[in-house]
Amino acid sequence: MSDESLPPRTAAVIPAAGRGVRLGPGAPKALRALSGTPMLVHAVRAMAASNAVSLVVVVAPPGDTAPVRNLLTDLVLPDRTELLVVPGGESRQESVRLGLDALPDDIGTVLVHDAARPLVPVDTVDAVIEAVRAGATAVVPALPLADTVKEVEPGEKGEPEPVVATPDRARLRAVQTPQGFERATLVNAHHILAGADGEATDCAGMVERLGGSVVVVPGHEEAFKVTRPLDLVLAEAVLARRRANDGF
Ligand code: CTP
Ligand code: MG
Repeated sequence: MSDESLPPRTAAVIPAAGRGVRLGPGAPKALRALSGTPMLVHAVRAMAASNAVSLVVVVAPPGDTAPVRNLLTDLVLPDRTELLVVPGGESRQESVRLGLDALPDDIGTVLVHDAARPLVPVDTVDAVIEAVRAGATAVVPALPLADTVKEVEPGEKGEPEPVVATPDRARLRAVQTPQGFERATLVNAHHILAGADGEATDCAGMVERLGGSVVVVPGHEEAFKVTRPLDLVLAEAVLARRRANDGF
């Protein structure tokens, strides 16, 4: 049977190779527990929850590929979900590229999702995939900002910093993941910009840099990134609320 008769599949690449410096000393961030379960396990489940996702590629901390594989072998996922674990790199951008290199040919749509956003609801994942399937080449979930943002001239730590501008808050969005892409668009951006100045913290930004168009769809407050210790408190509170509401 030829694979050409099958429609392209959707994969989720999960960069999980970061150290989590801002979270403080300890295991790599993706392996730290949230309510007793490693953050990465929550993130893999969040991607596998979408009916459209049939492959999850986890990009593990380079020295911890074996423990990550062990952790994920015992995980019960839907029958449709295939799982791959590959070692990551020095930066998020490099880790994503290594994840993309592992994709089989029949993947047409790619999500890139931070392991550090373990609680994204499936409706947000599906909304991103839908927008790609409807024709967008790059899709980002995002939320309006609560705080006003100032652009400053960065100074020494602790010193007052001159304000340069105050962008109109109504036009700003804070972006989240999963970001969704037509595969070729994302792969091209990563190949062209590999080793370019300034590591991208956001894949969509790489597509923009090359003149591609990116659209925003509504994000979700539970898709926040676990970055600092207080975020762990919030994430565990969200999990406790889910458990109380629907026995999750
Ligand atoms: N990431 C990665 N490879 C790297 C650096 C980051 O795969 N070399 C991943 C992280 O594991 C995380 C996501 O990119 O899931 C977003 O990065 P961030 O929140 O900055 O995580 P860390 O880099 O681990 O945290 P910190 O910057 O505080 O060290
Ligand atoms: Mg980082």
